[in-house]
Amino acid sequence: MKFFLDTANANDIRYYSEMGLVDGVTTNPSLIAREGRDFKTVVKEICTIVSGPVSAEVTGNTFEEMVSQAREIASWASNIVVKIPMTTEGLKAVKVLSDEGIKTNVTLVFSVSQGLLAAKAGANYISPFLGRLDDVGSSGIELVRDLHKILTNYGFKTEIISASVRSADHVKQAALVNSDIATIPANIFGKLWSHPLTDKGLALFANDWAEFQKKQKNNGGK
Ligand code: E4P
Repeated sequence: MKFFLDTANANDIRYYSEMGLVDGVTTNPSLIAREGRDFKTVVKEICTIVSGPVSAEVTGNTFEEMVSQAREIASWASNIVVKIPMTTEGLKAVKVLSDEGIKTNVTLVFSVSQGLLAAKAGANYISPFLGRLDDVGSSGIELVRDLHKILTNYGFKTEIISASVRSADHVKQAALVNSDIATIPANIFGKLWSHPLTDKGLALFANDWAEFQKKQKNNGGK
């Protein structure tokens, strides 16, 4: 499974990319707004840090607005994927953009039929939102499981990005149901490799090693 960072913060992206752990980035209008900087400047900067796919979302609602914004956004860097919302107009836009060779990520996917239609329209990626589905008493993981089965059954090349990830357990569950990608907020990303027993074990090793060194020194190195 590939790991994307779900953030528009260049410092976080740089930090985790230097560890070699970031396969791509997803942003959305809320994440861009949080940075308080110009949209194009932020996206272009992210594209210089990460060589994998970087999703940047259109903000228009009509087919015409989405297609025109998507063409503009796609021209900013070669690794851009244009995020299109899962609406009627969005689906029409995905079809046209896909025919033009512009990569798309259909976002705000909450049902199997939405995901299937997006794949049929030619989306390169679809983003089911796990956390937001869980919030309303549904199961985000079940949706990813169903989508994976159906896309595989019919040989679609569309990749599933498990989005709206809220915990390390979401990442594990997404991997268990064959999600191609999980896009993970920076605060969760940092928690993926930490475990209190690892810290405890390390402290114990350090303590035992220090005791051993002390004993050796007292025995004159014997
Ligand atoms: C997906 O690409 C979205 O940016 C994101 O995962 C939304 O997550 P949220 O529900 O935490 O806002």
